Amino acid sequence: NIKTFGCQMNARDSEKILGILQTIGYEETDSEQADLVLYNTCTVRENANLKVYGRLGQLKRYKSKNPDMLTILCGCMMQEPEVIERIKKSYRNVDIIFGTHNIFKLAELLAMRLFDQNAKRMIIDIWKDTTEIVEELPNSRKYSFKGGVNIMFGCNNFCSYCIVPYVRGRERSRNPEDIIDEIKQLVANGVVEIMLLGQNVNSYGKTLENPITFAQLLQRIEDIEGLKRIRFMTSHPKDLSDELIEYLGESKKVCKQMHLPLQSGSDRLLQKMNRHYTKEGYLELVRKIRKAVPDIALSTDIIVGFPGETEEDFAQTMDVVKKVEYDSAFTFIYSKRTGTPAAAMEEQVDEAVVKERFDRLLAKVQEIAAKKAAEDVGKVEEVLVEEINDHDATLVTGRTSKNYLVHFKGDKSLIGSIVDVKLCESKGFYYIGELA
Ligand code: 5AD
Ligand code: SF4
Repeated sequence: NIKTFGCQMNARDSEKILGILQTIGYEETDSEQADLVLYNTCTVRENANLKVYGRLGQLKRYKSKNPDMLTILCGCMMQEPEVIERIKKSYRNVDIIFGTHNIFKLAELLAMRLFDQNAKRMIIDIWKDTTEIVEELPNSRKYSFKGGVNIMFGCNNFCSYCIVPYVRGRERSRNPEDIIDEIKQLVANGVVEIMLLGQNVNSYGKTLENPITFAQLLQRIEDIEGLKRIRFMTSHPKDLSDELIEYLGESKKVCKQMHLPLQSGSDRLLQKMNRHYTKEGYLELVRKIRKAVPDIALSTDIIVGFPGETEEDFAQTMDVVKKVEYDSAFTFIYSKRTGTPAAAMEEQVDEAVVKERFDRLLAKVQEIAAKKAAEDVGKVEEVLVEEINDHDATLVTGRTSKNYLVHFKGDKSLIGSIVDVKLCESKGFYYIGELA
């Protein structure tokens, strides 16, 4: 049993982990009362860590019932030395720990643990960083018609609140040939939609021996016959080029959707966050993007309560939210991460003040999202059908180019195909539709 916390990077890593485990003979199960339980962890906010500690207690109880059970931890949280210390001290039920840089060693670590003479030893193998990219790991993909494709790993941006550059290492791009080959292979196996993954896709290719830009990579991917849809995330506003915006305007395959993290609308805080853009610069980007792709759905990430945030700073964030009118926004309460520059900043904002601002922001974000979604009611959109609806088996669920969910009457023969669906009713986060 594999449990994945956190972002799409982790989800993709878990597909590789499952692939490795299946290759050596394990079978997947839904239950945590299994012979092997693996947590692929996240540490972007403190809450994520607390969740894992909480569940490790539960796993200890399962292990007392099944002494052969193996407990394995990996992912971003394991790249933090304090975490390893705490697990060594308090969670002796853990058998193997590895990190974000050495997933490919899983089978070897398992063999070491299973054939170890000293049966109680906890095997810990964490690499601080790597410049390597291991290609062609076995992997077991969740869907047969869509898939994530890593184009780069790590991050060099060091936003002052963020732990990712410390746990995922320096930025490195995969060779375009490897990416194209992987996508061609996927398409040959029936995949029609891909999601290109990187912490900052807009800086793709800079570290390659023969540098190419993200827009150039997209162009090459677009040429792959049989591929229908391309998505990507995440775009850092500071590296979003005119070349890319122009390309988006022309592309037939890139979906009408972009995730463009704002974090804050206050120039003062953006500077303290080390984001390298201003509120006006961000708004100008949005204008350019909308000029190139008028109907694009924009989503974002926003942090409330960054150290020193005043009511005026927060008002600037609210102002951007109102001006841009995001289709969706992920709002986060600032979480202090040990080792990041922001953790050393004084003036942490009072918890009650943060909560009140967060609620105001969330209400505004939801109000705007509902309004945006309602605008498309009555339109006919192309929908990639993904699954039978969980609650009503006469319905199927799919996604529009803008990445909105749509539920409509249909059966499993539609799964994996792109069909025209009329959006009849908006429910805020999803639509009820009918085949057009
Ligand atoms: N506190 C709160 N939110 C954070 N994020 C990253 N680090 C923190 C933190 N320390 C948010 C950012 C990022 C998203 C993935 O998580 O908004 O874009
Ligand atoms: Fe974190 Fe900033 Fe890198 Fe995103 S760009 S992963 S927020 S450091």
